[in-house]
Amino acid sequence: MSFPKRALIKELLASQPGTAVTLAGWVKTVRVSKGGFSFVTVNDGTCQASIQVVADKVLPNYEGEVSRLLAGASVLVRGDLVASQGKGQTVEVKASEVTVLGKADETFPIQPKKHTMEFLREVAHLRPRTNLFGAVARVRNEVCRAIHEFFQGESFLYVNTPIITASDCEGAGQMFRVSTLDPAQPPRTPEGTVDYAQDFFSKQAFLTVSGQLEGETYACALGRIYTFGPTFRAENSNTPRHLAEFWMVEPEAAFADLDDDADLAERFLKHIFRSVLARCPEDLKFLAERNDPTLVDTLKAIVDSDFARLSYTEAVELLKASGKAFEFPVSWGMDLQTEHERWLTEEKFKKPVIVMNYPAKIKAFYMRLNDDAAQHGGEPTVAAMDVLMPKIGEIIGGSQREDRLELLESRLKAQGLEPEDYWWYLDLRRYGSVPHAGFGLGLERAVQFVTGMSNIRDVIPYPRVPRSAEF
Ligand code: 4AD
Ligand code: MG
Repeated sequence: MSFPKRALIKELLASQPGTAVTLAGWVKTVRVSKGGFSFVTVNDGTCQASIQVVADKVLPNYEGEVSRLLAGASVLVRGDLVASQGKGQTVEVKASEVTVLGKADETFPIQPKKHTMEFLREVAHLRPRTNLFGAVARVRNEVCRAIHEFFQGESFLYVNTPIITASDCEGAGQMFRVSTLDPAQPPRTPEGTVDYAQDFFSKQAFLTVSGQLEGETYACALGRIYTFGPTFRAENSNTPRHLAEFWMVEPEAAFADLDDDADLAERFLKHIFRSVLARCPEDLKFLAERNDPTLVDTLKAIVDSDFARLSYTEAVELLKASGKAFEFPVSWGMDLQTEHERWLTEEKFKKPVIVMNYPAKIKAFYMRLNDDAAQHGGEPTVAAMDVLMPKIGEIIGGSQREDRLELLESRLKAQGLEPEDYWWYLDLRRYGSVPHAGFGLGLERAVQFVTGMSNIRDVIPYPRVPRSAEF
């Protein structure tokens, strides 16, 4: 026997009255009327709106159960879809049967009132029952669908790169260790250091900070690939834009340079925004009312216009000439801080900005070295590009890759990394090296941008941040 076939509430709300229906969901609100009936609003997560169920006292369980329903309970309802007399909905369900599947009591934390975001993080297992987190979850789903749609449409192959890895892609040493050694009594080498040769993988292993290096190996065989998976960074950043565990999308294309990479990034972001505008109009309307009244217009404007593009050197000059008193004063060679990225996107250009060709010394070893040291007092730049968004700052980081063996080896050494550890990555430059480029999009930053949510912890179901891994 299977569960009774139910209609989805999103379908019912778009249907004509006059049919018999079965639905199931969770009770949002209950209003018991003096006239001997109750209005129960029910949501099943398929859309922002709930459906109103009218339950009459003639129902056999009206007194005992239905009129006592509380927010959070689950119900199975049979009845007729009828035109609604009330405001706010065109159809409602006149119940002929209400089965209470699971009761709830007054302790249910998600009451129909406004809760703080901090409180909702403490009940992250129940916050998807709120209108807000339902909307965010549906938009996140559409962003993921759009990501696959875009790359599949451009003949990129989806490749799954490993989560456990021995190499540090960003060379920044921000990796979580994966080990089965007993931390209280690890085996020691004669010199007294921990003997990782006796660990599970016979060497040190970590959670990946990026699938790029492995992604490059497939791009340099299959042409165009993308990875899309969880990524981990043990950086102690307590900001509204950083997570210790986040999802990253990383396309990699052979026979492509930095301009191709920037073009791809711009087309890609526009496709995501266009898809969410087309597929989530009600959720976006709700999110705009709650988070930012300009949200929908901003997304539409971005889809219809070109991103600004400029070099890092030009960006630094503009920032210096801005007359703004930044917390971090700007000089050539420094990394751009969020305040600088926001000035460029929100005040100077008022749209997304792609900054290209950053100083080599602030970027990862794998970025292709430009031949321009003479122009910046002996400091070369690399073929890097970051896409910056209003409010968010950096949403995409990417580059053309160093495809020349000797230069790549010397860049590794210059950053204190051992070329031998990257032997397989260097092989790509030994056998049929080609110009290639790629980038990484932080999924949560993209969801933050399209939902207008101010904290990244509220766009991933279970945020992992310093000192917090509940659930
Ligand atoms: O700029 P990042 O570090 O670039 C890379 O990892 C490259 N290997 C990507 C590539 O070229 N294939 O990270 C890429 C993006 C950032 O622009 C940001 O959106 C996101 O990943 N990101 C984070 N998102 C949330 N929390 C963090 N701690 C993040 N660190 C990076
Ligand atoms: Mg970056």
